[in-house]
Amino acid sequence: MSELVSYETRDGVAVITINNPPVNALSPGVPEGIGDGVQQAVSDDTIKSIVLIGGGRTFIAGADIKEFGKVTSGEKKPSDVFHLLLFQLEDCPKPIVAAIHGTALGGGLETAMACHYRVAVENSHVGQPEVKLGIIPGAMGTQRLPRLCGISKAAEMCAKGDMVTARDACDFGIVDKIVEGDLLEGAVAFASEVATSDTPPRKTREISDRFGQPQANQAAVEKLKAGIAKRARGQIAPLKAIEAVEMAATTPFMDAIKKEADIFKECLYSDQSKGLIHIFFGERTVSKIPGISKETPRRAIEKAAVVGAGTMGGGITMSYINAGIPVCLKEVNQEQLDKGLERIRQNYAASVKRGRMTEDDVEQRMALITPTVDYASLADVDIVVEAVFEGMELKKKVFSEIDAVAKPDAILASNTSTLNIDEIASATKRPESVIGHHFFSPANVMKLLEIVRGKASSDEVIATSMDLAKRLRKVGVLVGNCFGFVGNRMFGPYLREAQFVLEEGARVEQVDQVMYDFGMAMGPLAVSDLAGIDVGWRIRQEIKHLIPEGMRTPLVADKLYEMDRYGQKTGAGWYKYEGRDAIPDSTVQELIETTAREAGIEKHDVSDQEIIERTVYALVNEGARILEEGMALRSVDIDIVYVYGYGFPAWRGGPMMYADSVGLDKVYERVRHFHETQGFWWEPAPLLKELAESGGTFGQFVQSAN
Ligand code: 3HC
Ligand code: NAI
Repeated sequence: MSELVSYETRDGVAVITINNPPVNALSPGVPEGIGDGVQQAVSDDTIKSIVLIGGGRTFIAGADIKEFGKVTSGEKKPSDVFHLLLFQLEDCPKPIVAAIHGTALGGGLETAMACHYRVAVENSHVGQPEVKLGIIPGAMGTQRLPRLCGISKAAEMCAKGDMVTARDACDFGIVDKIVEGDLLEGAVAFASEVATSDTPPRKTREISDRFGQPQANQAAVEKLKAGIAKRARGQIAPLKAIEAVEMAATTPFMDAIKKEADIFKECLYSDQSKGLIHIFFGERTVSKIPGISKETPRRAIEKAAVVGAGTMGGGITMSYINAGIPVCLKEVNQEQLDKGLERIRQNYAASVKRGRMTEDDVEQRMALITPTVDYASLADVDIVVEAVFEGMELKKKVFSEIDAVAKPDAILASNTSTLNIDEIASATKRPESVIGHHFFSPANVMKLLEIVRGKASSDEVIATSMDLAKRLRKVGVLVGNCFGFVGNRMFGPYLREAQFVLEEGARVEQVDQVMYDFGMAMGPLAVSDLAGIDVGWRIRQEIKHLIPEGMRTPLVADKLYEMDRYGQKTGAGWYKYEGRDAIPDSTVQELIETTAREAGIEKHDVSDQEIIERTVYALVNEGARILEEGMALRSVDIDIVYVYGYGFPAWRGGPMMYADSVGLDKVYERVRHFHETQGFWWEPAPLLKELAESGGTFGQFVQSAN
């Protein structure tokens, strides 16, 4: 047998074990090895049945995703080895039992379904997550799954891509038995038992009594499609997955798998799949930091403190207690503290209402908070996260106060969205323990955590922060200490252009609609209203001195601020609000037109394409500077920041990959054009120019210092 797959026998049962760490992906050699094992078992008369099991921490987690890129780039030819293996398994005259622990995902579940029976341990999961990579199950999963669990459940699993627990899989008919105790022992016993049956092994493709009632299926699928339209807006694969699953009830298996293969191919070669695969690997790449390894010491984080129980402090506290880490929550006075605690309770109450939590869960989590108005209570915590008002003097004062009480090895983190971490650190006697932990609002929901490295932040503190991000179920991205760090630094130009195009003739709802259709979670002006026009105004005051005299700056946002139109919080901003519903406001449109006329701004017909180019290329041009300056380690780090923190569509791969896919020569050409027509703000980033002229991409760019 190959190194990837081993073979042994136990009391007349052949045990085929896959050893392809870390997740037993179906890399080249694995299907071949399984096939050899099956062949060996078939030709051995002493063998009555077969168990297929994963070595290490999991069953098979799917096809080897790295291989997809090789196929789409033409480096490798598509192979049918895996498909042939699945027929070999299903047509095997001796019963085969898949023994599942960890996860059976994608091609892993497809393998298990081609076996005759499936047993699993209680804490394992199964699923068809292919849509998360922009593809559909491509190895007959869309046809075998509905034969086990019915059309509507299979459509849901294939279109949403979420895993289900082994217990649920058992209830749905996907798994035959939950094994208590040792999996291999249980699976061998099960295999010995089924071997005594007189009937030939059950083939999944021949099961036809579980599809469900056509009418009920249709209703369920319609509901599913409506949900998918919101959840996976703009994505092709989920609807294609449903189409493929629905075929199972109406089209002969052998015809349906040909159509499945066509759809799979169409999805695999799409830009959406490339974008989503880029984000899959990107999410894992961002945790790889030059100079930091498994051996880098970490500090234990058992107890935290959060200073400031406002919007962010409350959400940060929830993130910690949701992860089971107790939090000492500090405010300036009892009134503010009570307000903050009440807001946390209200957030949890909403989850209870939606059935996501029980009252008991809420009480257990609230019990992890120790409210205080006294710094002395922070003496024994391992990390303090500061989330007080944005302002350097206040932050420095608060940090020196924390420094005086916190234990010597406690990490001091600031949630500042713009301020200089080094200056904040200078207020303490432990700059090596000071770091930025920039959460995104709502902090208990948003997955991104920008971890801002100060010049003195130690490797130990960075490594601990990256691990902590995972514990908090966030994606931590290490960024440099510059104004706005990565995300907000790029967001400035993006918002600026969104406002400039308004002054040049676009309408508020046009800009937002175009960007929403592009795939952004919200349009830029709706985002400003959500974040607060006052917040943006305050930031502009801070950076005013950096803008050269006479330079064009957005005019209308300041006027909205002066009119007390702060956005959603005051019921009016770029829009007027009824509850959370944004309603276009003719007053604002008139204000924009008058302001532009008075400032002598020339109007033109702003096309949808121009709106996309002005806003997205502004992001990209700034992203190029960030990359060149080393403020982000790789371009994919910027992409992850934008997908997880700013609602950039994952299926476009983030702004830098989007630019790569458009072609940097084309992007550069437009940036140069905007520079000629718009001036100063559009000075092309040197790196963009260099890569465009040399035919390079951001994805390939590695900073020489890295
Ligand atoms: N192919 C290649 N590499 C994979 C992989 C896969 N299917 N799944 C995981 N990996 C790699 C990761 O990139 C990571 O590599 P790194 O250490 O170099 O960064 C390593 O394995 C460990 O992965 P995680 O850090 O994600 O480990 P976790 O324990 O946190 O999660 C998991 C394990 C739940 C299996 C998660 O890795 C996962 O969801 N994997 C993807 C599963 C998937 O999408 N399967 C379907 C593939 S498409 C398919 O099968 C098509 C079929 O229909 C033909
Ligand atoms: P907020 O105004 O909602 O809350 C600030 C809280 O800090 C108030 O409750 C105040 O009483 C408290 N506070 C002030 N001084 C204190 C002290 N000495 N000790 C204890 N508590 C004190 O502000 P918000 O929005 O939560 O912002 C906090 C920080 O988070 C700021 O630095 C901001 O830039 C940053 N941030 C804000 C985001 C947002 O979307 N609101 C997003 C990311 C970061």
